[in-house]
Amino acid sequence: MADYRFDTKKIKAGYSPLDNNQAISPPIYQTAAYDFKSTEHAQNLFTYKEAGYLYTRVGNPTVNYFAERVKALDGAKNAVAVGSGMAAISYTLLNLAAKGGTILASPYVYGGTIDAFDRLFPELGVSIKITDAVLEPERLEKEITDDVKGIFVESLSNPNAYLLDIDAISEAAHRHGVPVVVDNTVATPYLYRPLEHGADIVVYSATKGLTGHGNIIAGLILDNGNMSYYTKERYPQFYEPVVMLGGKAAKDIFADNFFIFRAILVYLNLLGAALSPQDAYLGIIGLETLSERVSKQSKNAAEIAAYLENSPAVEWVRHPSLDSYKFKALANKHLTNGGGGVLSFGIKGTAKQEEDFLNNIRLFHYHVNLGDARSLIVDSPNTTHSELTDEEKRLADIPANLIRISAGLEDAKDLIEDLEQAFKAAGLL
Ligand SMILES: Cc1ncc(COP(=O)(O)O)c(C=O)c1O
Repeated sequence: MADYRFDTKKIKAGYSPLDNNQAISPPIYQTAAYDFKSTEHAQNLFTYKEAGYLYTRVGNPTVNYFAERVKALDGAKNAVAVGSGMAAISYTLLNLAAKGGTILASPYVYGGTIDAFDRLFPELGVSIKITDAVLEPERLEKEITDDVKGIFVESLSNPNAYLLDIDAISEAAHRHGVPVVVDNTVATPYLYRPLEHGADIVVYSATKGLTGHGNIIAGLILDNGNMSYYTKERYPQFYEPVVMLGGKAAKDIFADNFFIFRAILVYLNLLGAALSPQDAYLGIIGLETLSERVSKQSKNAAEIAAYLENSPAVEWVRHPSLDSYKFKALANKHLTNGGGGVLSFGIKGTAKQEEDFLNNIRLFHYHVNLGDARSLIVDSPNTTHSELTDEEKRLADIPANLIRISAGLEDAKDLIEDLEQAFKAAGLL
């Protein structure tokens, strides 16, 4: 599969009919557990002497096919699928900072992620420092002190579609022996593959454009197989014996996959956000049309962004397709397949007019998801990013009048007409 191109991999990678009674569509292994052939077999599975399935919370063939396919699309070495994007983010950061420490994080991320930074991680001994130094890697380097265990950023961000320079961030982090985690949810591997830009770990909310139909909650953790950053001094957790492994450490079992292996063994196993086989199957079907969907969504978003930029009802617009885009040079270089379906704009009116605008939208769905086949609209500061403090909103460039759009697969002209009639109904035109 490694020799095939992206669109071939999205249909074929990670699954073989030969292993599944010639079934061309991956079967849904709807089982909680798997029979042991003997006591010896049971012991071998439990001590990882033999590969095989044991219990669906920690492994299932359909879930594995899904992870293997995304792994191929991202060019990753290791992958695991989990029950949500938040589980992927939490398990990854906990695995990095299992013994405490600091994660340096971009301010340009999903509101739920910031909520976890503010509320969940400090409870678990992990402090998260949100810093806009991710825009200036030289400044970022000064913030990488000995207790920093990782850098967390979104490639293309939610809700502003900011594109960070992952190459430069990774170079800066690696000079200090620290891995970089990229949430690539908004971009999807069709638009951007962070591991090709030096990142070490990629996480996804597969709920979004990756699978694209707004019908599952799912997440993934992928890595590049380079375990050299996980030194005993900074990351002792990988070197400590694990009960289940008969006194061995995660590092002793899989020399080039102990990061994700430990995430499965400790967090997926014990916190338990497993992906269901049914949802993994829907995810696999969604992946089959990834390029076609994201390409059309990028085109629709670009048309909507161009319309909005010329509208007197709008203060500003953020989308990689626009000349006014803050990271235009980077987008021209890296987003060669399109700018993605997510854009944001500032509505020019009172809070009441903004409410009237949203209440008069007919075609877009007003809700918090993104990357769906249907077009979505939401007032992020009041919903997806409402947990942010005023200072976090300022740092993240999320003013009170921000509206986020996730363009779907409808006809762009219908979408633009819908926006136009809602602006008029709100007295903005
Ligand atoms: C960029 C990003 N990452 C992670 C998440 C969380 O994913 P999930 O809802 O699958 O837990 C979201 C959800 O909106 C998101 O937009």
